Amino acid sequence: MKGIKKVLLGLLVILVIIQFIQPARNKSGQAMPNDISKMVAMPAKVQGILKKACYDCHSNNTQYPWYANVQPLNWFLDDHVQSGKAELNFNEFGAYTPRRQQSKLRSIENSLKDGTMPLSSYTLIHRNAILSEAEKMQIISWVQISRDSLSKKNF
Ligand code: HEC
Repeated sequence: MKGIKKVLLGLLVILVIIQFIQPARNKSGQAMPNDISKMVAMPAKVQGILKKACYDCHSNNTQYPWYANVQPLNWFLDDHVQSGKAELNFNEFGAYTPRRQQSKLRSIENSLKDGTMPLSSYTLIHRNAILSEAEKMQIISWVQISRDSLSKKNF
């Protein structure tokens, strides 16, 4: 019994200590000269869908939920933000090469068709990020129009 108490106390101490180790927040108040909206037309509807379902992990500004203050949850969350942003950042889209822009737009379409994005661990909590078929179609047709307009621009 004494042993178990010690282990539990030890765990509690660790849990308290790790609360002080918080990764930096993904929050930028900076102007965004390379934002995707500066490259292609973004209807408000499309922007709204991307904001609610994708921007937490694919932009320079994450809307943090309350449990982001609780470790180790925040590490898990931060890992998604960092690797999501590294793959695709809507706020930095204009800095990509034309070839990369095309390939990212293609992957957006594929990720929606395959249902791999948004991540299921995210939609588990963010129920409004589950996209309806109509919303998916809106993004897919926007992707197609954007790919055409970018390829004309870069020709
Ligand atoms: C909870 C965080 C999260 C959300 C929300 C999210 N993603 Fe992702 N996304 C990631 C992570 C992490 C990766 C990289 C690892 C992987 O592919 O699983 C990724 C990768 C991608 C890639 C692959 C990029 C490439 O070049 O292959 C695309 C495209 C993508 N996401 C699109 C989207 C779209 C579109 C949405 C919204 C409908 C979305 N994501 C929402 C976390 C997220």
